[in-house]
Amino acid sequence: MRIRTKVVRAGLAPAAPGEPFRTGVTFAGAYHAAGDPSASPYSYGRYHNPTWTQFERALGELEGGTALSFASGMAAVAAVLGSTLRAGDVLVMPADSYYTSRLLAEGFFAQMGIQVRQAPTVGSAQAQHLDGAKLLWLESPSNPGLEVCDIAALAEAARRKGVLVAVDNTTPTLLGQRPLALGADFSVASDSKALTGHADLILGHVAVRDPALADRLGSWRSQMGAVPGPMEVWLAHRSLATLEMRLERQCRNALIVAEYLAGRRDVTGLRYPGLPGDAAHELAARQMQSYGPVVSFVLADRERAERFLSSCELIFESTSFGGIHTSAERRARWGGDRIPEGFIRLSVGCEDDQDIVADLGRALDRAR
Ligand SMILES: Cc1ncc(COP(=O)(O)O)c(C=O)c1O
Repeated sequence: MRIRTKVVRAGLAPAAPGEPFRTGVTFAGAYHAAGDPSASPYSYGRYHNPTWTQFERALGELEGGTALSFASGMAAVAAVLGSTLRAGDVLVMPADSYYTSRLLAEGFFAQMGIQVRQAPTVGSAQAQHLDGAKLLWLESPSNPGLEVCDIAALAEAARRKGVLVAVDNTTPTLLGQRPLALGADFSVASDSKALTGHADLILGHVAVRDPALADRLGSWRSQMGAVPGPMEVWLAHRSLATLEMRLERQCRNALIVAEYLAGRRDVTGLRYPGLPGDAAHELAARQMQSYGPVVSFVLADRERAERFLSSCELIFESTSFGGIHTSAERRARWGGDRIPEGFIRLSVGCEDDQDIVADLGRALDRAR
């Protein structure tokens, strides 16, 4: 099956007369399970749920491995770190990865005796810090700077040194980039973003090829209680079926928007890995199937950026990204990233490209 078919059909049970295409959500805390609990496929809602089973089958088919759904992207990040690292281990993180992932590593995990080394995503600089490490964490393209590293080369370097590799694949999604096929041990994502794409739920997942890693992640999830709600999972599975269509439109729109912004003299620091001429384009073209919905750029200063955002009529001012609604934010309002005050993270949605460009142009003109 080709990918467009696979994504629409992912996780569905074989056709059976009288059965729905996809079964409804199962809300269950406890299941009938007499005697030996291992004899029953479902016993208690913190361990398993049939709605998770269907969705995880879908994710696994698309990731090329075994997938586990988590309560949020951060629950998925924490599960990989927590199920892998012990006191005295070394974690190599991107210095420019998603801020909360760095906070978690530098805060709670460092306190528990994990040594955290950081190096930039650009130039695959993390390769220089692998000696004696246990886990290499990558995020490509990075959020919010959209830098790209060579995942296959880093995974190979890590494999030679016995270092496990995790890739935060949130920005491109499992259709835009396939970390397990590039050699990573863990593919991690916040599914609150493009994978579900409607800005209406919080979820995450991890996919692995090694059953032993899947077992450890499963134990982590049930013992820490980082479990997803069945309703969220059911909605996510429904959204997954339209991911390819949404992403195709969003990536097409993002390229049109990036080309428009490239022609504006009031915009600097423009980044979009899909834009020919972007510093990351060549590498991105080698390892990505599509370039994601996020474009970033810089306006002169904080005031200009704020005026731009408040002048947008169609584009929502909002954090988060990847959804069908175009949104933007001045990222430095949160702190924690080494970016200019006028840095804008723009998430391009599914609206008509001409309407998005018109709104951008109007708001940029008003901000001058
Ligand atoms: C790259 C990346 N990883 C992980 C997360 C965490 O995801 P969640 O908000 O679903 O916990 C985010 C959230 O913005 C993110 O951008």
